[in-house]
Amino acid sequence: MDTHTRIERALVSALEGVSQQDCPGGLRAAVHYAVFPGGARIRPRLCLQVARACGDPDPAASTAAAVGIELLHCASLVHDDLPCFDNASLRRGKASVHRAFGEPLAVLTGDALIVLAFDVLTDAADISPRRLRTLIKTLARATGMPGGIVAGQAWECESQIDLSRYQRAKTGALFAAATAAGAAAAGAEPSQWTLLGESLGEAFQVADDIRDVADTSAQMGKDAAQDATLGRPNAALQLGLDGALNRLDDLISAAVESIPTCVGGRQLRKQIISEAARLLPPSLARPMRVVA
Ligand code: IPE
Ligand code: IPE
Ligand code: MG
Ligand code: MG
Repeated sequence: MDTHTRIERALVSALEGVSQQDCPGGLRAAVHYAVFPGGARIRPRLCLQVARACGDPDPAASTAAAVGIELLHCASLVHDDLPCFDNASLRRGKASVHRAFGEPLAVLTGDALIVLAFDVLTDAADISPRRLRTLIKTLARATGMPGGIVAGQAWECESQIDLSRYQRAKTGALFAAATAAGAAAAGAEPSQWTLLGESLGEAFQVADDIRDVADTSAQMGKDAAQDATLGRPNAALQLGLDGALNRLDDLISAAVESIPTCVGGRQLRKQIISEAARLLPPSLARPMRVVA
């Protein structure tokens, strides 16, 4: 089964498991709307790519980890779009969840998806208690405080925000959880894989900042020029376009160089370089400094 099908099927089954008739219809519909159709699914793919690079001896565990990561990501988008945060009307080319279902259901949809992310981890029935504990801890730390998505969003309530720290929390933490959880699910040492996720996550956010400045809403399927409008730290606005592009190159190089020795290291390196080249809009695409 290819990676895309593996992720989509597991997400369908995760939602089916909680979508019984006795659940309020509005919540069921809003949760489904927040997860399908998906975006790039970049985090669960990264999780499974790392698991594969480590041999992937327990696919049920790596799939559960990948699905948990994507559900947390979907939750973060629903909450991020709320009027009290970015007040965004468009997400993945359609109305944001609060625009389609109202604010109360959007808050609850994010909450339900966060809980479901931990629920699905328990579906990896044969996983050892030690490995399960590591996965739960990894996902929890990436979501909450002191340095997860919640903390990342909370930096927006501070008067002084350090760009790199903000991006590491709001985006890097979940990427780092994706690589660490992929490794942990495969029985490898997760700490050897966090630098890869941290670097890729920060690179991804720098590319998103560049797109926020350079792309249109129609090209992105979400509101453009949000950061300038909301006064958010943005790498392209702070460093200039060339500065942000150089930062992106540095982060991708650091990511690739951090890959530890493992059975599938060479293939993973190639996958990361080819996916990194697609982070930028075609008008800004240029050869990566790092080579496979
Ligand atoms: C958007 O993430 C939020 C950021 C961290 C910039 P993605 O661009 O991965 O969103 P989807 O899942 O593909 O829609
Ligand atoms: C979102 O950051 C990061 C999350 C925790 C969801 P942004 O606000 O920059 O992401 P977009 O541009 O709305 O996708
Ligand atoms: Mg935001
Ligand atoms: Mg936003």
